[in-house]
Amino acid sequence: MRFSIMLAVSPALILALSASLSPTFSGESLKLTNLLLVRDPTFNATLSFSIHDPDPLTNATALCSGAWRYGSKAWPSGSYWSCSDASIGWNMASWSNWGNFSIGLEHAFRDSSVGKPPYDHVVTFGTAVYDSEFVTCGPRGEGGEVCIQRGGSVVLAPITRVISKR
Ligand SMILES: *[C@@H]1O[C@H](CO)[C@@H](O)[C@H](O)[C@H]1NC(C)=O
Ligand SMILES: *[C@@H]1O[C@H](CO)[C@@H](O)[C@H](O)[C@H]1NC(C)=O
Ligand SMILES: *[C@@H]1O[C@H](CO)[C@@H](O)[C@H](O)[C@H]1NC(C)=O
Repeated sequence: MRFSIMLAVSPALILALSASLSPTFSGESLKLTNLLLVRDPTFNATLSFSIHDPDPLTNATALCSGAWRYGSKAWPSGSYWSCSDASIGWNMASWSNWGNFSIGLEHAFRDSSVGKPPYDHVVTFGTAVYDSEFVTCGPRGEGGEVCIQRGGSVVLAPITRVISKR
């Protein structure tokens, strides 16, 4: 059971499993909290959120943010913008409206079970889906809008891909 799940994700995970030294890669979902979007016609649009990667190999927490011209869609797409911990990056994986969008994430860290330095780096990828269950928007100032993640809620970004990287 466990093996087949890992197989579906990546060969790197199987290497991680076979060298059962602790701590080992868990593949736990990334956790996003406190998303805040502010759109005001006289300023840039700004987006920020906190991210936690509970994987025992990294246990990292960071703040991710970005700004783009009001009314544009000049957010990161395809490539990633760095978070406060530059090993984590984010982009807009898909966007329909501010009650329906998803954030793509990547996180690079070391996993000694995949190889000896410098061959011990992995990069995990995940996507967090924000819908009206998790985000609520309201007016702000003259024609602006503010959207916030519902109090205390956590949006999970399951790990969908892992690559090993030099
Ligand atoms: C993860 O890091 C936090 C501090 O940032 C610490 O309080 C916590 O105990 C750590 N958890 C693990 C499993 O190492
Ligand atoms: C608006 O965002 C652009 C692109 O990120 C940046 O170059 C510019 O300085 C920002 N302007 C303000 C007023 O924050
Ligand atoms: C959210 O947008 C996606 C397309 O990006 C669409 O398939 C889906 O139906 C939308 N969901 C809602 C609740 O509007």
